[in-house]
Amino acid sequence: MHPPPRRLLLPLFLCLLPAVAWALLPPPRFPGPHARRAGVRDGVGGYEFDTRYFRQRLDHFSFSGGEESFQQRYLVGRAGGWAGPGGPIFFYCGNEGDIAWFAANSGLVWEAAPRFAALVVFAEHRYYGESMPFGSKEKAYNNSRSLAYLTAEQAIADYAVLLTDLKRNLSSESSPVVLFGGSYGGMLAAWMRLKYPHIAVGALASSAPILQFEDIVPQTIFYDIVSNDFKRESLSCFQTIKDSWKELDEQGNGQDGLLKLSKTFHLCQTLKTTGGLSDWLNSAYGFLAMVDYPMSSDFLMPLPSNPIKEVCRNIDKQLDGTSTLERIYAGVNIYYNYTGTVDCFDLDDDPHGMGGWQWQACTEMVMPMSSSESLSMFPPYEFDYASYADDCVKSFGVRPSPRWITTEFGGHNISAVLEKFGSNIIFFNGLLDPWSGGGVLKNISGSVVAIVAPLGSVPLVQTDAVF
Ligand SMILES: *[C@@H]1O[C@H](CO)[C@@H](O)[C@H](O)[C@H]1NC(C)=O
Ligand SMILES: *[C@@H]1O[C@H](CO)[C@@H](O)[C@H](O)[C@H]1NC(C)=O
Ligand SMILES: *[C@@H]1O[C@H](CO)[C@@H](O)[C@H](O)[C@H]1NC(C)=O
Ligand SMILES: *[C@@H]1O[C@H](CO)[C@@H](O)[C@H](O)[C@H]1NC(C)=O
Ligand SMILES: *[C@@H]1O[C@H](CO)[C@@H](O)[C@H](O)[C@H]1NC(C)=O
Repeated sequence: MHPPPRRLLLPLFLCLLPAVAWALLPPPRFPGPHARRAGVRDGVGGYEFDTRYFRQRLDHFSFSGGEESFQQRYLVGRAGGWAGPGGPIFFYCGNEGDIAWFAANSGLVWEAAPRFAALVVFAEHRYYGESMPFGSKEKAYNNSRSLAYLTAEQAIADYAVLLTDLKRNLSSESSPVVLFGGSYGGMLAAWMRLKYPHIAVGALASSAPILQFEDIVPQTIFYDIVSNDFKRESLSCFQTIKDSWKELDEQGNGQDGLLKLSKTFHLCQTLKTTGGLSDWLNSAYGFLAMVDYPMSSDFLMPLPSNPIKEVCRNIDKQLDGTSTLERIYAGVNIYYNYTGTVDCFDLDDDPHGMGGWQWQACTEMVMPMSSSESLSMFPPYEFDYASYADDCVKSFGVRPSPRWITTEFGGHNISAVLEKFGSNIIFFNGLLDPWSGGGVLKNISGSVVAIVAPLGSVPLVQTDAVF
């Protein structure tokens, strides 16, 4: 999920949405799951699988006679070792992005499967990657009528239908299914276990902020955690970032300001507003907090170990007299250009095709986020639902349904509810990960448990940590 921007800008055309809008509208898209250490065993992306497609019903919840369908992509692990019919199935609930990317970065699933003689399946979320309704991304993302079927409920129903059919084809109806997922995919895994207990026996939900809705957790928690991650590395780095927003605005408003900023930050195109740049910086800080691993990684971006420490070192080490914004450039260069091979920065880049999150944020996934003046290194910002909703109307012609997720899946009084009605769910969180703020961090019952890594980011899960 993308960290939430300070203020909202509107995409001009929906077809530009994947490129422009996700960075600008509210809630964060998720980064993914158990990011995997680069170079371990067969290397990132080295897992072997077959790609398959399944004809999926577009709308599971109504009958209009049309019976529109689309091809859903799913990946099936090739490694032998499945126990065969009746043996376990590890099913990854795809998030808002290309499923092959998540498969390449979910080492836990692949590494745990052989121990349980489990079959590995990664299913792609509708409207992402190749799983496009209406035949193409352009058509699927055309307008609110074509996007209407992009919801969490439809996605979970896809997984239920796919699993049922797959088990039948494998003559494996009795197979226990364990759901996996990270971030939004982790939310889907937990919710699916609650909604379809007859289809899956358990779920492992990594970095899944199922409580980041309405007023369940403090609205400032996400940005407070990101800010603390920087502050614990370096107070001066934290302060430089905190001071930079004002300078950015001042410079942007000055003579040839946008041009100068574009040069300072080595952008491919001249900025149209300072907002585009602050969202881009904002995203870098949020993502860094999600992947602040003690070893180098290559999930969102190729990064060194302890990337926040590196970013801060670069911000702090510049010669006296270096301007705040030049320091900031030197810092984010670690995130966006660690390989040193980027010629210029394209603010609209969306390499993993996560643009659809914008629509989801404007419909069901309303995660209110603010940043506080005192604790945060971000500009003070108070979430304002009315303007959020207005922007959604302008962008998509739809008004969000901010209470729907808790109505559909719960969230309030979660401990009491899951203790009574939930079972076999593991919630995984690293406390450096800003999404842990909306996660389940306490053991709820004997089989609804929380595993918390105090110094972890989005859990880079080592098999031994769980099993
Ligand atoms: C998008 O929708 C409009 C009308 O709603 C239609 O005229 C147009 O052909 C659609 N475009 C695509 C690519 O489907
Ligand atoms: C199950 O087999 C049928 C018939 O070959 C096929 O159409 C369908 O796509 C298969 N289901 C899955 C989940 O692959
Ligand atoms: C990326 O890093 C290289 C090597 O340090 C540098 O030459 C280049 O200018 C950087 N790219 C951008 C866009 O700043
Ligand atoms: C939460 O659940 C417990 C146990 O069912 C109940 O006693 C309590 O009143 C609930 N609290 C709220 C705020 O609903
Ligand atoms: C929850 O219980 C498990 C043992 O069942 C333990 O390993 C874990 O640390 C506990 N989690 C928390 C947050 O206390």
